[in-house]
Amino acid sequence: MKNVTAKELRRMWTEFFSERGHAVIPSASLIPENDPTVLFTTAGMHPLVPYLLGEKHPAGVRLCDVQKCVRTGDIDEVGDESHCTFFEMLGNWSLGDYFKEDMIRWSWEFLTDEKYLGINPDSLSVSVFAGDADCPRDEQSAALWESCGLPKDRIFYLPKENNWWGPAGITGPCGPDTEMFIDTGKPACSADCSPACGCGKYLEIWNDVFMQYNKTADGRFEPLRQKNVDTGMGLERTLAILQGKKTVYETDVFAPIIKRIEELAGVKYGSDEQTTRAIRIIADHVRTSTFMIGDEKGIAPSNVDQGYILRRLIRRAIRYAKQLGMTAPLSAVAEVVVEEYADAYPELRAGAQRIAEELDREQERFEKTLANGIREFEKLCHYLVGDTVSGKAAFRLYDTYGFPIEMTVELAKERGLKVNVEGFQAAFAEHQQKSHAGAEQKFKGGLADHTEATARLHTATHLLHRALKTVLNNENVNQKGSNITEERLRFDFSFDRPMTKEEIEQTEKLVNDAIAADVPVVCEEMTVEQAKEKGAVGLFTSKYGDKVKVYTMGKYSMEICGGPHASHTGELGHFRIVKEQSSSAGVRRIKAVLEH
Ligand code: ALA
Repeated sequence: MKNVTAKELRRMWTEFFSERGHAVIPSASLIPENDPTVLFTTAGMHPLVPYLLGEKHPAGVRLCDVQKCVRTGDIDEVGDESHCTFFEMLGNWSLGDYFKEDMIRWSWEFLTDEKYLGINPDSLSVSVFAGDADCPRDEQSAALWESCGLPKDRIFYLPKENNWWGPAGITGPCGPDTEMFIDTGKPACSADCSPACGCGKYLEIWNDVFMQYNKTADGRFEPLRQKNVDTGMGLERTLAILQGKKTVYETDVFAPIIKRIEELAGVKYGSDEQTTRAIRIIADHVRTSTFMIGDEKGIAPSNVDQGYILRRLIRRAIRYAKQLGMTAPLSAVAEVVVEEYADAYPELRAGAQRIAEELDREQERFEKTLANGIREFEKLCHYLVGDTVSGKAAFRLYDTYGFPIEMTVELAKERGLKVNVEGFQAAFAEHQQKSHAGAEQKFKGGLADHTEATARLHTATHLLHRALKTVLNNENVNQKGSNITEERLRFDFSFDRPMTKEEIEQTEKLVNDAIAADVPVVCEEMTVEQAKEKGAVGLFTSKYGDKVKVYTMGKYSMEICGGPHASHTGELGHFRIVKEQSSSAGVRRIKAVLEH
């Protein structure tokens, strides 16, 4: 086994696949585009969904990358040996090109060859799909693994629960997978011990998904137009295996961050459980916050959506920093994160100042209310009858003192108390209704499906973008975010005052004129430079390297975009703006629908 650093592993990965005809594409933003169902990019395949469903990717049919990802389902688990909220995923894709044979052969080569990871083949096991009514047993993958030299008794057939990958429970591209595991050498836990039992004998290192189905909203698995490969290898976890470390927190990606925390707080990682846990929480949360604020679509702490998760992470880190007696600000830890990652993610260097400022500002805000809030909480506990903090009280802590509900739950747990979270949510919803804030459904997990309805709204979004620039007579009116469900579009754009009634009406008229003209939606590939020259609106300039796709709708719109779109503007129906409101400082938000 090779002892490689994070930097070496990233390079080894992209070199291996580019030598095999793959285009190396840059990591996409952590904030998904046009996808209302998730707050963050959660896997390497996430930004590629349109292409897995059949859209043409400008960089070709073989792609690889190192994608920054955030998963926030387990924030409260962070502190143990394995959980992290941020991770990097090494991935490669075949978009209707090669399939099982090449992928399994390459997986074997990359894992075992001395030139690459050099893992002893005797310590490898794999799982393949056992088959069910939706999809047959994957004998082919098993035979391919055998032909690589893997003995039969280390090939496990497992059901959908274990060997199927798709966006969690919702719609979208999915399929059976084959997963690769390192045997840690621990004795088998039982006669049925397998990679599925979770006893710790087997560590997953890589997942090859054979994406051949689209899960529909009514739960059917319809075959995709093309057979894809989607693979994912977690960088941190692989480093832990290669570097012989018990936990990802002991690998080279975390070492300098942890060292800084030790210096700032005057404590030692590993000295006792409580200290170690606090250090891990601070290291993880500051790393994730740094990537969120420093993202190309950087976010700031707030009370909704991504901003709320960011706030929760920062505040939880502050609480644990206090526990360690660390008086230095979190920004002093973030500094190391920027230094360590800026070569691989240059946006962090560009955003270094904003990262420090946002962290300091949030820390200041929190400090102000924290002391009062804790006092309030103590008082509350003192007078508490029973063992449960009421939803109303928890909401007051949130509303007045900025305590995220999760923090109240954690504080209560430390005192052996419970919190009525449902009651909190009810109080929260009531408050939202009162303030007309409009509680939108979020935090669902999974991926948006790309139905005709969403494609039409996506086309309308392009027309709206162009119309706004024209009506507001301002080329600096730019897209700041887009979020589309089957029912409506939501479009955030840079503009510093409310639109007038006339401007809104004029915008609607321009979009409806483009629809009435029923022009075809034409997609062309060209270089970024050509696109700029032609006057295309460029949101993701050079994100995909050389070539980009440009969607043109007659004289009404020309924009760099990944698709998918309607084929004619006439399919859109009647465009209506339902709401125009402030989104954040200098950013307005439009919600609009298409009616028949
Ligand atoms: N999409 C697959 C995963 O995230 C490769 O595991």
